[in-house]
Amino acid sequence: MEFIMTPTAAASLRELDFTFIDLFAGIGGLRLGIEAVGGTCVFSSEWDRYCQKTYSAWHGEVPHGDINAIDIASIPDHYLLAAGFPCQPFSIAGVSKKNALGRPHGFKDATQGTLFFRLATIIQLKRPPVLLLENVKNLRSHDRGRTWEVIKGTLDDLNYRVFDRSAGVEVTRLERFLYRVSYGGRSVEFELNDLSNVKPPAYAIAPDEIYIGPIFDDSALRFFLIYNPRLKIFHYVLDETARAAEQFMAARQTRRILIGKRTGFAFYRDLRRDRKILIGVFEGNARVNNAFDGPFDQLPDNFIEGDVLQKALIEVEPTLAGRIDRYGGLADGSGRFLIGPYAYYRTEQDLMPFHACAIDKTIPAEDYYACFVMDVTSEATLAVRRQAERATQKPARKPSLKRSKSKR
Ligand SMILES: C[S@@+](CC[C@H](N)C(=O)[O-])C[C@H]1O[C@@H](n2cnc3c(N)ncnc32)[C@H](O)[C@@H]1O
Repeated sequence: MEFIMTPTAAASLRELDFTFIDLFAGIGGLRLGIEAVGGTCVFSSEWDRYCQKTYSAWHGEVPHGDINAIDIASIPDHYLLAAGFPCQPFSIAGVSKKNALGRPHGFKDATQGTLFFRLATIIQLKRPPVLLLENVKNLRSHDRGRTWEVIKGTLDDLNYRVFDRSAGVEVTRLERFLYRVSYGGRSVEFELNDLSNVKPPAYAIAPDEIYIGPIFDDSALRFFLIYNPRLKIFHYVLDETARAAEQFMAARQTRRILIGKRTGFAFYRDLRRDRKILIGVFEGNARVNNAFDGPFDQLPDNFIEGDVLQKALIEVEPTLAGRIDRYGGLADGSGRFLIGPYAYYRTEQDLMPFHACAIDKTIPAEDYYACFVMDVTSEATLAVRRQAERATQKPARKPSLKRSKSKR
């Protein structure tokens, strides 16, 4: 969840004057907020080269790379340490995806899970008076609370006090998108972006489909999440009302399949409507959880109207009834139903079953859209996929993704 401070709140805080460092800096969103209240950034680190590019364009400096390779002694002293906490091993989306790919998560994630301890070492050596660690939704409930215990325990050992509800921090929802955070007699109001007016144009949605919500993906592409109640399937359709920061190349074997040069996202140019349906995410990107690992991460939490998503998920998977909230999250907060109709592909050939299916004249016309999903539930839809795969003799890669759920 990203908060945007109301202008009055930002103005009242601008009296402060302090230095900070920006770790796991992403594109520097956190930095914007900290600078707005008087912070001066003296060091930044972010290893993703596209994030580095954007960061450099926005903030005029290229962040240092991998946090593990940084000589801690070279980090300047600072008042506040801000860390866009490497959330993927713990966040709901990260856990779902790692489960789907059969990979460990949390502290067991050998590459990303241990980053917290690297952070702890930096804190121990630099001793900044204040830490600002970006929260991630699943953190408290991850691994039945053990992950949070380790993090809090480590911060306690380092003599830092965590400010949460038990310490007197209160978060009150004032209006649909307006929140107040209060502590010690002071309060600040934050306003969330209202994306409820983002609707797909008529060409992007068929009359018998339901619009679930917009997705502003971290790849910088935008999608519409769409549900087909008759076939019980979801599609991520490219939102072309905004200019997509992407160049598409046609696959060698068919111009119907388009692959993004930057994102690796593969789309099928629908034969029936003027729209592009996401059919593939490059497997290498999904494995490292970078910004191109698929739009599932960015499901439209705050912009889903009523229980439209919950209803659709229960239709697809009736055993979810009574177990999920209206965002598809499991009741105990430990995970979220993974909507992953796309394939994780390695080569263009892996995408060919989608095309074979779409042009297969023996597939009933009413089942055409079942050609564009991998996580099928109904037998009819499954039959369509099997037929398509036989036609190309090459099953698209989908590592145990059928109706994958996050942590149970
Ligand atoms: C949750 S994002 C931070 C978003 C950030 N707060 C912002 O405003 O854009 C976490 C970032 O950590 C970065 N990251 C992960 N592992 C890293 C490493 N070993 N060294 C440096 N950065 C890393 C990721 O590339 C990702 O951009």
